[in-house]
Amino acid sequence: MKTFLQTYGHPPQASAHAPGRVNLIGEHTDYSDGFVLPIALEQAATAMISYSSDNLHHLCAPDTGEQYDLPPDAPLEGLSKYVLGCYRVLEEHFHISVPPLNYWVTSTVPTGSGLSSSAALEVSTLRAVRELLNLDLDDVTLARLAQRAENVWAGVPCGIMDQMASSVAGTRTALFLDTFTLEMRQIPLPAGSEIVVINSGVVHENSDGGYAQRRQEVEESARVLEALNADAGHFGVLMNASHASMRDDFQNSTPGVDALVEILQGLAGVYGARMTGGGFGGCVVALVVSGQALEVGRNAVQQHHALGYEGYQVVPPVRRVE
Ligand code: GLA
Repeated sequence: MKTFLQTYGHPPQASAHAPGRVNLIGEHTDYSDGFVLPIALEQAATAMISYSSDNLHHLCAPDTGEQYDLPPDAPLEGLSKYVLGCYRVLEEHFHISVPPLNYWVTSTVPTGSGLSSSAALEVSTLRAVRELLNLDLDDVTLARLAQRAENVWAGVPCGIMDQMASSVAGTRTALFLDTFTLEMRQIPLPAGSEIVVINSGVVHENSDGGYAQRRQEVEESARVLEALNADAGHFGVLMNASHASMRDDFQNSTPGVDALVEILQGLAGVYGARMTGGGFGGCVVALVVSGQALEVGRNAVQQHHALGYEGYQVVPPVRRVE
């Protein structure tokens, strides 16, 4: 992979990481002022920048091979919607012009899987620019700007959960967030439990259209409040109910995801399992007995593969054998 130095001939002047997230419960509630309970992942995006020596913004993403050389007011496509989108929301917020920059990004957050790869991209980008330009920008405002970049420039009408999770959540405790007030609390996982995340291998199709259609009031928030004080067993029951509601009421699941959820729910050591994220494919999260995550993950992936799917385990991270 071509590094920043190899791409631009000098080291970066600022760099930042930002994680993806998995949402434990509270789905499609964040645009109707409801509650959510995400936790940050080890997988993260890393953005690096330096001042450009010409009048163009240069962008390079070796993971995807994308490369752009753009004047600041260029029409945006692909990666540039996110990156220049971030520059533009900063310009609007601070009444400044972001100088032409060399930009490079890499990410270990799987894309199109409901793990907020785009929020990780936006938050790492904003953090890197904050560092380079020494901007007075707190983490919550940064999350709001990241959401604005996604809404306005990437054209996805998402709520605030993903950007807040990427900006302020940790990997050890879940983040209980009231998306109306942005009040938050760190919530430990129920005693004796840990999480497994498996990518179903089913890529969201038509996710933007379907996502937008489902921007309506949902009752899922009540389950989040109940989960806050639940033991592992009860938390699992709530996760199962959350999935049933997505599958039957909200209809934003798919057969491949439902099959994986059912497999997990039937395995010993699993308290509960549900699809996570925007839906229409992507990842499933399960709460399991402490110490059993690897075994549960391996069994579930094997059984899912036997049905013809090609998913893989994301948490605990395992090296993918291509
Ligand atoms: C996507 C959106 C979030 C949230 C979830 C569903 O991840 O980006 O804002 O609405 O879907 O909970």
